[in-house]
Amino acid sequence: MSIEDYAEHFNPLIPPDEVRYSERYMLAQCPVVHSDRDGGFWIVNRYEDSLRVLQDWKTFTSGNLGVRVPHDPPGLNRPLMPPIDSNPPVHRHFREMMNPYLSRQRLEQHEPGFRRVIAGLIDQFAANGTCDLARDLAHRFPAQITFVELFSMADEAELTKIREWVRRLNYMKHKVAPEVSAKIQRDLDAWVYAFVATRRTEPRKDDIIDALLQGTVEGGRPLTDEEIVGAIEILISGGFSTSADATCNIVIRLIEEPGLEALLREQPELIPQAIEEIMRLDPPVNTRPRKCAFDTEIGGRVIPAGDRVLVNYGAANHDPEQFPDAETFDVFREASKPLTFSAGPHRCIGSNMARLSLRVVVEELLKQATDFRFVEGKREERVSFSPGAWRAVDSMPITFTPIPPTSR
Ligand code: HEM
Repeated sequence: MSIEDYAEHFNPLIPPDEVRYSERYMLAQCPVVHSDRDGGFWIVNRYEDSLRVLQDWKTFTSGNLGVRVPHDPPGLNRPLMPPIDSNPPVHRHFREMMNPYLSRQRLEQHEPGFRRVIAGLIDQFAANGTCDLARDLAHRFPAQITFVELFSMADEAELTKIREWVRRLNYMKHKVAPEVSAKIQRDLDAWVYAFVATRRTEPRKDDIIDALLQGTVEGGRPLTDEEIVGAIEILISGGFSTSADATCNIVIRLIEEPGLEALLREQPELIPQAIEEIMRLDPPVNTRPRKCAFDTEIGGRVIPAGDRVLVNYGAANHDPEQFPDAETFDVFREASKPLTFSAGPHRCIGSNMARLSLRVVVEELLKQATDFRFVEGKREERVSFSPGAWRAVDSMPITFTPIPPTSR
């Protein structure tokens, strides 16, 4: 198969198991390459080139519905979601409004709440010695902590309904008829609009929702309802499959990396760097799109103005120029700035929240269980949506030995 053919196979439904292979292949053979799929787009694979695209937001822009790769299925009509779908200076106004609620310091207040949610979910299956890690834990806690802790919302039935909508919109986007996704998107939009209307009538709660309701952009204009709804939707979905996949990838590593569980039990202070290294090797978000504003040369190829460019974090995180012995899992790797949470203005606003919740997941799992294994004859089941952007874990049956409360 030729290089260009291979890049063409980097398509929206690339089998999840081939994503990593295609990344390595492109990194080595065609670091900047054009795909003819989905109306055409470029893929940038090397670390240095990726960093340049992410930092040079004037040349490589966000904030336009036509940027998405692949284009949304017909009729889906997802709203624009600031800050991810916006450019400076408006983008900066959104970040200034939202950042304080997701700072490390602010999140310290939420740690007990995160722990309550995560430990509560693990409690439900811990004594059984078996669970579907994806369905019983990983797909559940991100929406729950977002609603309960960030949005000050506690209605369990509502929460379950929205969690399922977001799950289906992500994991089933290319599996179900476009009308089905479009209907779920409409239901989600209607729910968020109603939530915003209700919050406008309620006393202030000093949370991120209030920040959006009271916030201003562009020299003092209040946000439109569309902008608020879009910002809430990216807060819901930005941390959903990402945190879920990271959780599953961490447990896969605990199963497969000899001595890792013992090391983390002996030296729990290594948990954060182990999580970082697992996410470097298997970043939950593999790719993100930009649109090229001017004819621009990168990696020896000229990208014409108007073309879409996909930054391939998955490949960049394995670039041997940046990460010596890139394929090796090394808990003690020196700080090497992986692109797991991106870089430049759109760097993940939820990275502190993700890191905190994943640390709590590992701590609580290790408290209640040991000796993690796959159910015999099974592995995790992955699904793809967006070209290689997610190789999301849909299901992951595992077994383990429960640790009785008396021995904890
Ligand atoms: C392991 C978990 C996570 C990973 C790997 C991840 C990854 C990313 C990446 C790669 C971007 C950059 C997108 C771009 O460059 O276009 C991003 C942006 C973003 N993420 Fe996350 N994310 C995670 C968790 C979260 C959480 C928990 C939230 C919600 C609190 C969140 C909300 C967002 C938002 C709103 C943006 C847009 C930021 C902007 O455009 O300024 N993410 N994330």
